Amino acid sequence: MTTGEDLTAEQAAAELARLAAEIARHDRLYHGADAPEISDGDYDALRRRNNAVETQFPDLIRPDSPSHRVGAAPSEAFDKVTHSKPMLSLGNAFDSHEIGEFAQRVRRFLGLGDDQTVDLVAEPKIDGLSASLRYEAGQFTLGATRGDGRVGEDITVNLRTLRDLPLRLIGDDLPELLEVRGEVYMARSDFEALNAQRLAADEPPFANPRNAAAGSLRLLDSKITASRNLHFFAYAWGEVTPPPEGAHWDMLERFKRWGFMVNPLTRRCSTMDQALAFHGDLAARRAELPYDIDGVVYKVDRLDWQDRLGMVSRAPRWAIAYKFPAEQAQTKVRAIEIQVGRTGALTPVARLEPITVGGVVVSNATLHNQDEIVRKDVRVGDTVIVQRAGDVIPQVVEVVVDLRPKHSLAYVFPDTCPVCGSRAEREQGEAVWRCTGGLICEAQAVERLRHFVSRDAFDIEGLGEKQIEEFWKAGLIRNPVDIFTLEARNLAIEERPGWQETSVSNLFRAIEARRSVSLGRFIHALGIRHVGETTAQLLAKTYESWGKFLNRMQAARMPEGDAYEGLMDIDGIGPKMAETLVDFFAEPRTIKLVAELAEAAPPLDYVAPSGPAPLAGKTIVFTGGLEAMTRAEAKARAESLGAKVTGSISKATDYLVAGADAGSKAAKARELGVATLNEAEWFALIAGQDSG
Ligand code: IVH
Repeated sequence: MTTGEDLTAEQAAAELARLAAEIARHDRLYHGADAPEISDGDYDALRRRNNAVETQFPDLIRPDSPSHRVGAAPSEAFDKVTHSKPMLSLGNAFDSHEIGEFAQRVRRFLGLGDDQTVDLVAEPKIDGLSASLRYEAGQFTLGATRGDGRVGEDITVNLRTLRDLPLRLIGDDLPELLEVRGEVYMARSDFEALNAQRLAADEPPFANPRNAAAGSLRLLDSKITASRNLHFFAYAWGEVTPPPEGAHWDMLERFKRWGFMVNPLTRRCSTMDQALAFHGDLAARRAELPYDIDGVVYKVDRLDWQDRLGMVSRAPRWAIAYKFPAEQAQTKVRAIEIQVGRTGALTPVARLEPITVGGVVVSNATLHNQDEIVRKDVRVGDTVIVQRAGDVIPQVVEVVVDLRPKHSLAYVFPDTCPVCGSRAEREQGEAVWRCTGGLICEAQAVERLRHFVSRDAFDIEGLGEKQIEEFWKAGLIRNPVDIFTLEARNLAIEERPGWQETSVSNLFRAIEARRSVSLGRFIHALGIRHVGETTAQLLAKTYESWGKFLNRMQAARMPEGDAYEGLMDIDGIGPKMAETLVDFFAEPRTIKLVAELAEAAPPLDYVAPSGPAPLAGKTIVFTGGLEAMTRAEAKARAESLGAKVTGSISKATDYLVAGADAGSKAAKARELGVATLNEAEWFALIAGQDSG
């Protein structure tokens, strides 16, 4: 981009200064109460002109350049910032009586007579997240999150992208140093548009505008922040030199002149009646506002009084938040449906007659779990009170029993999965019902496939979560068997974006290489609940072959039979595991699928250590990360070769096997003269001893 003209450096600098001021002015007009003076097209032309001059004179880019608004390159992490004055929180009040008490406390503390009025500034309490902005000589230099109030995070580059935030202050009464504090928030309409966009892109939506604002501000890539259209209201300050005098209200007026947005609904009240009326009015108008608020903040106006009042336990004695009650509305339950999560959890959801609650149309509410439904006795056809308490997913507060239709029936929680029809199960001590059809349940398929190919399971090179997700969406891999028929099905994968002939043939080679894995890995890959790597190894060792394992698991359905007893006899298998194993193999469609899988990818029989156990009687400690096997696998392998594996080094230790980042144990071993092996040496030691 060039300007198409020959500017001297001096002219360019003047032009950039003019553009920065001009664009900042239009930003204020656009976002403030005043109407914009120019069209969006003319505004964009100013921005383009600014960019063009900057491209030609990159050395002249100003700290307050509007081009910073588009965000900078992603960074690794946020630096910590210690606030020069702590960022306080607020005490809460929930009724007018508590506000009266607050006013009394203030009077008593200051020793005021009845004839003296205490002006309060009433501000909407914006439901966003607070930030602190530092200005030195009028220049924005640092922006931070609240963090724990004492230490926050440096989010300067992200904050720069907010058009409400002046990069350079205007006026001739600017403090040398100014820390302005206020709320970063997202308008409800932007929140809804963002969520619609995220849902379309298969990304999880944000629960509410506050979470969306927080998520957008704490992005390492500030270019994304720039696209989120966040806003800022100034309402407080930290360090200011010279310190402000007069009243809070005056300071807000100054903020406005200097270029900040101050909430236009803010009022100064000189009586308690006025103050309470403000709360009532705002509560009534709440749903119409373009952004979420969750109450009113009252602040003692006089700054000398604020100083005297000071603070208690991290909240000022001169301010209080009068919270709104959660927004509620009444509607009818059309149906109760069960959603099945990616891990098989069954969650009941009430389908409601759509109703507006606090400016948001609500047509679903979570019922959490079976106990919640029973406790509230929610039935189809019931009239219920729903509430949005900060979160967008509303809750059913209670049933209006008087309006219950005659002959209504209590809701019966299903014991089968509505997605795949498998048996659902609720374990003792758990609130959730779960589908037992892991491998055959559409709702769980992606999750199960991801587990299937994970490092501790089939561990197929080049077939990770990303590829599984892609092939699932394209319908190429719907279950584990599909992985092993991928090549034979001639799917022209090389024509898919991101794939080439070599990457596809590498993938096929990698799948081939893992077609037969140890029985332990195979069992682990099935993703049976409670059956982790160690248990899977144990089962492999006990049953030795796939055929026998499958046969015994099916037979174990007989509660008092041999097979069940045999299973329970295994040291390390408890009743919970036994039950989930039996449940898993109780489903005919699962049996069919695993049988097909074992045919397409036959697991290796378990091989007991042969000949003299090479590690018999040896004590081994593993430390650090191993490349080729997991810790559990390495341990099982060592044990199968006759070794005893312990967790800490002593004189009795024969070998320390040290993987990457071995820490103190390596030093200890050296100290005690214990032989230390690296991963390669360990493999050399056990070479040829395949134990399954
Ligand atoms: S004053 C001493 N004013 O509410 C100053 N806070 O619950 C302390 N908030 O952390 C804050 N609107 O994030 C103040 N008009 C307002 C506010 C406000 C929203 C937030 C702020 C604070 C939280 C405390």
